Amino acid sequence: MARYLVTGGCGFIGSHLIERLLAAGHKVRVLDDLSTGKRENLSDGVPVTVGDVADADAVRAAMAGEDGEGVDGCFHLAAVASVDRSREAWLETHHANLSGTIAVFDAARRANPAGPVPVIYASSAAVYGDNPNMPLTEDAATRPLSAYGADKLGCELHARVADGVHGVPTAGFRFFNVYGPRQDPKSPYSGVISIFAGRIARGEPITVNGDGEQVRDFIFVKDLVRYLTAAMGHPQPGAPVYNVCTGRPTSVNRLAEVLADLSGRPLDRRYGPARPGDIRTSIGDPTRLVAAFGMSCDTPLEDGLRQTLAWL
Ligand code: NAD
Ligand code: UD1
Repeated sequence: MARYLVTGGCGFIGSHLIERLLAAGHKVRVLDDLSTGKRENLSDGVPVTVGDVADADAVRAAMAGEDGEGVDGCFHLAAVASVDRSREAWLETHHANLSGTIAVFDAARRANPAGPVPVIYASSAAVYGDNPNMPLTEDAATRPLSAYGADKLGCELHARVADGVHGVPTAGFRFFNVYGPRQDPKSPYSGVISIFAGRIARGEPITVNGDGEQVRDFIFVKDLVRYLTAAMGHPQPGAPVYNVCTGRPTSVNRLAEVLADLSGRPLDRRYGPARPGDIRTSIGDPTRLVAAFGMSCDTPLEDGLRQTLAWL
């Protein structure tokens, strides 16, 4: 049994991670400002501190725990996950997404008398921006198009500092487009699958940004969280980063058609302007991930979409 802090634990991915940690018998506590996360995403009894991850005192206190028992590691997921939101609220999202990450690394170096504790953190495929070399390997050039992508790249650079200067072991995961149950279908800042699934199921029209031929690599949330727990169990030196992806492309148009088909509803699709800072094509190469962890993101898209629709 280990004790972990999960920042952003009330969110979509965090809640699935916590389900897995609890099932394995670990003790978990959460720091979350509830800006998009919800307590209802978690089972009763998981202690939640409501606070800002960019508040260094709040992060230190959350790592120490109410009884001062400390933690064995931190999963850092708190962030403003929306690329669009990072355009509207540049500085505010920067505080959460980059200052928040530095606050977590900083607290991790003094979290236990025995020494620094590992931090497993969420980076993003957004770091690749408009790099056209598909599928993207971790060595591909990083060319973020958005404030969100730039800050996630900043997290990776500071992870190198955390590791090299302060002895905090880290692993960064460049999630591609994650979907599944509990991704909020009502928020305009949510992922495209949850927005489309919710609207199609309610018989409402969907809006495709641009021509709909932009492509994403969609990964099912339950596939993803296995890597986070595996990385915590085997911290590696050198601040490694890993793509979390399938290598399989799906266009936004195709996604809308499959969702309509699976939900047995007619598709009312409208086209709007392309989103500023939107990436055209994003497909990852999972070779390093599979080599390091011995498992791939293998839930077929249609199976994952069925589970997502069933949850709505
Ligand atoms: P989410 O919005 O459901 O979860 C983020 C959580 O962080 C929420 O519970 C929110 O309340 C909390 N939070 C936000 N700002 C905070 C702050 N300043 N202080 C404390 N808590 C704060 O989004 P998600 O999809 O679960 O994303 C989790 C992580 O994964 C994020 O770091 C995100 O950038 C990253 N990520 C997500 C995807 C995806 O496709 N969903 C892809 C790549 C990376
Ligand atoms: C998503 C994640 C981001 C992550 C990145 C990694 C969310 C909210 N964002 O960003 O955290 O780092 O993947 O690749 O989970 N679209 C429409 N209509 C809509 C909504 C979206 O056409 O109603 C389009 C968008 O313009 C975009 C595509 O769908 O082309 C995907 O959008 P979105 O789900 O917001 O994801 P990303 O911007 O790729």
